[in-house]
Amino acid sequence: MRPRIKLPRNVPTQSIAPRRKRNLTYAFIAASIFGLYYLWSRPIDPYSVPFSQHLGWMNDRANAVKHTIEASYDWRKAPFHNTIKEYTPLPTGVPKSFPAIQHKFAPESSTQKTKRERRRMAVRNEFARSWKSYKQYAWAQDELAPVDGSAAESFGGWGATLVDSLDSLWILGFKDDFYKAVKAVAAIDFGKTSSSSISVFETTIRYLGGFLSAYDLSHEKVLLDQAIQLGEMLYRAFDTTPNNMPLDRLFVETAKDANSPPSASLVNICFACFASLTMEFTRLAQITQEPKYYDAVARVTAFLDRAQNTTRIPGLFPISVDANSEDVSLGSQFTIGALEDSSYEYFPKMSALLGGLEPSYEKLWKASASMIDKHMLYRPLIPDSKRGSELLFCGDVSVNGDEITLQPEMQHLTCFVGGMFGLGGRLFSNEHHVDLGAKLTEGCIFAYKSMPSGIMPEIFNIAACEDRITCPWNETAWEEGVRRYSYTRTHKDFQTFVAEEKLPRGFTYIRDKRYLLRPEAIESVLIMYRITGYEEYLDHAWDMFTSIVEATKTSFGNGQVYNVMEYPPATPENKMESFWLAETLKYFYLIFSPPDMISLDEWVFNTEAHPFRRPALVKIKG
Ligand SMILES: *[C@@H]1O[C@H](CO)[C@@H](O)[C@H](O)[C@H]1NC(C)=O
Ligand SMILES: *[C@@H]1O[C@H](CO)[C@@H](O)[C@H](O)[C@H]1NC(C)=O
Repeated sequence: MRPRIKLPRNVPTQSIAPRRKRNLTYAFIAASIFGLYYLWSRPIDPYSVPFSQHLGWMNDRANAVKHTIEASYDWRKAPFHNTIKEYTPLPTGVPKSFPAIQHKFAPESSTQKTKRERRRMAVRNEFARSWKSYKQYAWAQDELAPVDGSAAESFGGWGATLVDSLDSLWILGFKDDFYKAVKAVAAIDFGKTSSSSISVFETTIRYLGGFLSAYDLSHEKVLLDQAIQLGEMLYRAFDTTPNNMPLDRLFVETAKDANSPPSASLVNICFACFASLTMEFTRLAQITQEPKYYDAVARVTAFLDRAQNTTRIPGLFPISVDANSEDVSLGSQFTIGALEDSSYEYFPKMSALLGGLEPSYEKLWKASASMIDKHMLYRPLIPDSKRGSELLFCGDVSVNGDEITLQPEMQHLTCFVGGMFGLGGRLFSNEHHVDLGAKLTEGCIFAYKSMPSGIMPEIFNIAACEDRITCPWNETAWEEGVRRYSYTRTHKDFQTFVAEEKLPRGFTYIRDKRYLLRPEAIESVLIMYRITGYEEYLDHAWDMFTSIVEATKTSFGNGQVYNVMEYPPATPENKMESFWLAETLKYFYLIFSPPDMISLDEWVFNTEAHPFRRPALVKIKG
């Protein structure tokens, strides 16, 4: 039997069919909007207008794009088999006033300003190059292939780069391009896809996050209409298990089938895949006032809250969770990198997004943060022990019996932890956490500077000190580490080996030498800059940016680097994921912008660098 479908309440109605006859009033409004558009459509040079205007250029004339969505399927009418009887409502009440996250910046000198604006322009030009090629050679497709100027489909074929870049276009001040993109977005048909199944996580953070953020900035209604269509499709992921835990693969055609639920077989799910959909579904619920979107993720959070103390390292969650039994007590591998990262990141961010009105996020954050600090963070053993005392890295741990072992392996993906501790530390007034955030960020800055190309590799090992207090250089310990991780007996003597590998002292193994255009290091540098106001961060960011551009530049855009240990760099790979424009260049642009552009006291970034509006301005303390 086909269950009754509950259509969203209070959701702005959307035209799936072509619009009916327009009346005179409508024509008049359209003419006025056109007039306003004409007035506003002169190209804006972001350096000639105050940044506040630059950011808000269209807020007073929302919905400039007339649209009709011609979708082959209306996801609001899709079946939902594992019926939910009662929805957890969005928390209500007066949002808590969190302490200010942002440093109170003093006015800059004209020398500082000139330098900053020059750097900002360089980032903007780099963005413009890739965007121009995307428009010309890969328009509305998932990715631009940056070496040969072809296009590639990788995330459902709905134009991942197009949607992921919307808010960047807005923030970087590419007004005409933003409106071209919004028009193109109206033509996306979420009723069908080029792949049989989609990643729920990636589709949520890139597409849904992209729509919601661009809507928060511009109030263009078509963005919300598409967010609802996509949100309704992704909502079917919560129908893939009897207990409404979302599996990561959603089979799009099966999800339309009224006779059977989208997925019958139960599998283990990675922690990040099911536990970091909270921000996007919550923001969608806040904007539409439709409780079922919030309810879906609130259920996952309630489960995490029950389960947090039952894992093999209470406070932390293992990489893989059995979605059916909800048993978390078996997993023995823990990481803050791939497969887990954003779930932890979203604990403090959800607190901010909900104005502190749901206490479980603060509790989840505090319990996990102290265990990350205790078991995963380590000081690296490097020749300059004074410098070493300023650095931290974040490794993986495994549990065997009662023994917890640290694997001193760091991923580029893990570099977001600096910003996470900084943000969490400020929100919950924990100076120790802010200090950890600064040291973790320094760790990534150090790793960038240590490599011949000036770019940190995807995955590497660096020897861990016994403790964080004293750690004099020990050549024998380093050599032991190198022998353990990367040196095999067939190699010549140790010194020749490390020279040939260009292994900087302290580093024991570069397991993955690539740089995939990832944003996590600059993300933490930006957040720590906004928190502390330390000017050195600007120079570190500039060094990162120039090294990255030097190694990744192609004639059409920027490509992945195959080996960061190589200098001068070889030709980049023919791959440019959507996060290059959505995240990496946005963070670089923001650090060289006036610090109240996307203030962290008003906005909170999802894990794909899409800023969502926080509920109320915080009261600045002290
Ligand atoms: C979790 O376990 C620890 C140690 O067993 C205990 O101190 C703490 O109160 C527990 N927390 C919760 C929320 O149950
Ligand atoms: C240096 O490391 C080696 C191997 O771990 C260890 O045996 C030795 O005691 C260390 N030396 C000092 C001075 O700590």
